This record gives sequence, structure tokens and C-alpha cells, in this order.
Amino acid sequence: MATAAVAARITGSSACLTFRKERGPRSAGPSLFSGRYAPLVIRELSEARAGEDYDLYARGINPQFIRVLKTIGFDRVWARGEGQYLYDSDGNRFLDMLGGFGMFNAGRNNPRIRAALVETLELDTPGSVQLGVSLLPGLLAEELLKRTPARLARVLFTSSGAEAVEAALKLGRAATGRSRVVSTEQSFHGLTLGALSAGGDRHFVERFGPLLPGFSRVPFGDLDALEVALRTEDVALFLVEPVQGKGVNLPPSGYLEGAQELCRRYGTLFAVDEVQTGFGRTGKLFAFEYWGLDPDLVTVAKSLSGGYVPVGGLLMSQQVYDGVFDSLEHSVSHGSTFAPNDLAMAAGLATLRELDDADLVERSARLGARLLELTRALADEHEVVREVRGLGLMWAMEFGEPESGSVAWRLMERMQAGLFAQLVVVPLFTKHHILSQVAGHDLPVLKGLPPLVVTEQDLEEFASALDDVIAKAGRPTRVAGLALRAARAR
Ligand SMILES: Cc1ncc(COP(=O)(O)O)c(C=O)c1O
Repeated sequence: MATAAVAARITGSSACLTFRKERGPRSAGPSLFSGRYAPLVIRELSEARAGEDYDLYARGINPQFIRVLKTIGFDRVWARGEGQYLYDSDGNRFLDMLGGFGMFNAGRNNPRIRAALVETLELDTPGSVQLGVSLLPGLLAEELLKRTPARLARVLFTSSGAEAVEAALKLGRAATGRSRVVSTEQSFHGLTLGALSAGGDRHFVERFGPLLPGFSRVPFGDLDALEVALRTEDVALFLVEPVQGKGVNLPPSGYLEGAQELCRRYGTLFAVDEVQTGFGRTGKLFAFEYWGLDPDLVTVAKSLSGGYVPVGGLLMSQQVYDGVFDSLEHSVSHGSTFAPNDLAMAAGLATLRELDDADLVERSARLGARLLELTRALADEHEVVREVRGLGLMWAMEFGEPESGSVAWRLMERMQAGLFAQLVVVPLFTKHHILSQVAGHDLPVLKGLPPLVVTEQDLEEFASALDDVIAKAGRPTRVAGLALRAARAR
């Protein structure tokens, strides 16, 4: 695949590592805690191997990804992250409008979340006893349930969004005794096989089939199609993102309420995937609050981690819980070794506290409105801007061929669908030091998910950089340059 096509998915000295081993007296016997072994000092290691990031990654992990980053000029050596900024090793500051794909709502390296994690480590908590429980999981479940509708009565913790979705699929099937799952076209729910089976993006599916049986998709926003799918009364759950992450598609008025009503009518569980939209991203703690929804299942992950420790969860109704965990024999019907672990729970508790104390949800609503105002003004200036949309700080700008017609646009689309958005993302980064992403495969859509700590001044800078970049993006020289680079990288 051409590098230009791959870039659309970035939505995103060779000395060996030596662990110095101090030589102690042989008779002392080995003990990891006796001081016989030199501690692994990450700071020293990072200094000793500084600058090898890309070579090491290419050698041991994924050389193709490194090739893509180098081709588009994203191969910076990163030195530090703080709040809404990244700093490279030359001391340049970059505004992070990508936000780790939405995991940094509370900002990068948030000091209060870090302090909670350090404290947890220092407490030597007795987590993950496995045949026993500790305090923190119960506390985080209590906090999550306090913040969600009364129908949601139980939490099953996971370590990622995809795992939370898998849990929704499995538990939904068991609780209803039905096997079918309906989701929406253009949806994204993660890259594990169950989540992929629900997802609507063929680019993620190709080569990985066959997918799971019993899955089908209906157009997002189409209640008639949903009713046809549910009418057979054999659908376990309808899984939907309140705002679709790929493309940042907002639901038409009345759609989600109507979908919930259809689910209730036909005995299908209404499952809302808040992995990306949750924890203030859209200007409410959960996006479903905008429409007063009362889901049976809610998946969460990403920013609950505070950007530090992976954590996800499935919030479920009492009815779902009772339908699955219905006997002593079934008391551990689903779970995984690391979920829930105390560090993840501490990250979750500290993140919820931070969202409250720093008013980040309200901030997301306010600054999201400002971002729309600033960037909608660009639609008047640039014919190529077709639409600007968003909810809170989940934002997108869609491009399209100018109504007056454009040869450059058509050439770009022929080279690769959605290429214009990449012509915006690349100079935003290289020239203006702003990290952003294309909203999905082949989509001419630029997307922003900045940390919610972003300032109004940051957004003004973003809008002004965007103005500059859009004005230049369609120029024939730039199109030709990109074509050349893409060809070289094939
Ligand atoms: C709506 C949604 N669901 C599920 C996932 C999968 O989450 P994870 O990447 O943590 O597995 C994502 C990830 O982007 C997502 O946006």
C-alpha cells in the first residue's frame, strides 16, 4: 500500500540493552531484593540510548510504521509531554490535537493522577489476589455507577476498549439467549475479532476473516433499517457510538432516542459505546446524556486511564448481570488476569476526581463551542471546506471539491481518496507544530481530539494554522510533491 494511504491510518548507535549486574559474594545467594542486583534506572537508560527511538523501533517492533513516519516527516524524537503539549528533543513545542486517540482528556502526565499512582505503588496494595478482592475496584465501580443512570448497576472491568466491547457482545448474548448483534455502518469498536465483526470499516477487516457469525450493520441514523433488523426478535444487542469516531458523525435528531425505543420494543439490549466519547470528550461526562438515554450496556476505556494505566469497563444493567452471573458456578463467567488491577483502578479514581476538580467537562463544552466558531469561519473563506462539525472537543472538518470545480482536487482523489486531509495534516505538523489526524481511511476529514486542558489561545493558533495550510494545500506543487514522496515510499 502506498505510504500516503497508510498515513491516513495514523490517526497516528545500536548498542544492546545491558542490565548491569553487580557482582556480590557467591555465598550470599541470589535475592532480587538484597541489593545484589543493580536497579534498572530508566532515567540512565533513557539518557544512554537517547535518539535511538526510531532505529530500535524499526529493528524490534515495526519497520513499516517507521518508514511511514519518516516519509511524512513525523519522525521527531520526543522528549517530554505535558498537558496539551509534546516537546521534541530540539525543544520545539507541539500542540497535541490528537490526544493519543482520545486517551489524554485529563492532559498528558497529569501531576495529580501521577501522584495517586505513585502513592498506590508505595502502598504495596494487595491487588489482584484473584481468589479474593481488594478495595480499589469496588471504589471505582461505585464512582462510575454514581455518575450514570440508575439502570446501570454493575461494572465489569477490562484493560482496553476492545475488551469492553467483547464483554458487551458476550454478556449481551448470554443475558438474552440470542446470538445476533446489530451495529452501524462506518462504526469503530476496536480491533479484536468480535469488535471487528461489529465494526463497519472494511479496511480493518480485509485479510483477517472470517469474522464471527451473527453480525449485521445498518446505516447510522436510519431507524427504519434498524427496525427491520430488530423485528425478528433474535437480536441480542444493538451496539452504537453516540458520535461515530470515524468521520466524527453526529446522530440525526431523534435517532438515538428512537433506537433505544426500538430496542425496548423488540427485547434487544441497547449498548452505547462511550470508549471515545466518554469522560468529558463531548462536553458531557458521557455523550448519551445529551439525549437522556438510559442504556442497558455502556462501554468505557481510553481516558479513564488518565493516560497512564490501561483500563476499560462494561457498565451493565442488573438484568444483564443476573442473566449471566446467575449462579455460583457462573460467578466468574468473564474477565481477564489484569482486570481489575489496583494501578488501573487508582488511575480511574484519580481521573474522575480530576475531571470534577478541574471542571474539565464544562471546559470541553465551552472550548468545543469556541473551536466550532473559530473553524466555521474558515468555511466561508475556503471553498474546499465542506463542513465543520463537532460536539465538545470532538471536532472535525470535512473537505470536498469546490463547487467551482478543481482539477487539483480531482487529481488528488484519483491518486488516493481523502488525500486532501493528509495534505493538511502533514504541514500542520511540520510547519505549525500541531499534531492532528485524518478521521479514517479514505476520508477527506480532519479530526481533533485535544486534551480537555487545551486553552482558547491554543485553539486560536490551531485555527490560524489551519487557515494557512488549507490555503496552500491544494496548490499543484504540493500535490506533485506528495505524489513523488508516495511513489518513492511504495
Ligand atoms: C468507540 C470505540 N470503541 C472501542 C475502541 C477500542 O478501544 P481500544 O483501542 O482501547 O481497544 C475505540 C478505539 O478507538 C473506539 O473509538
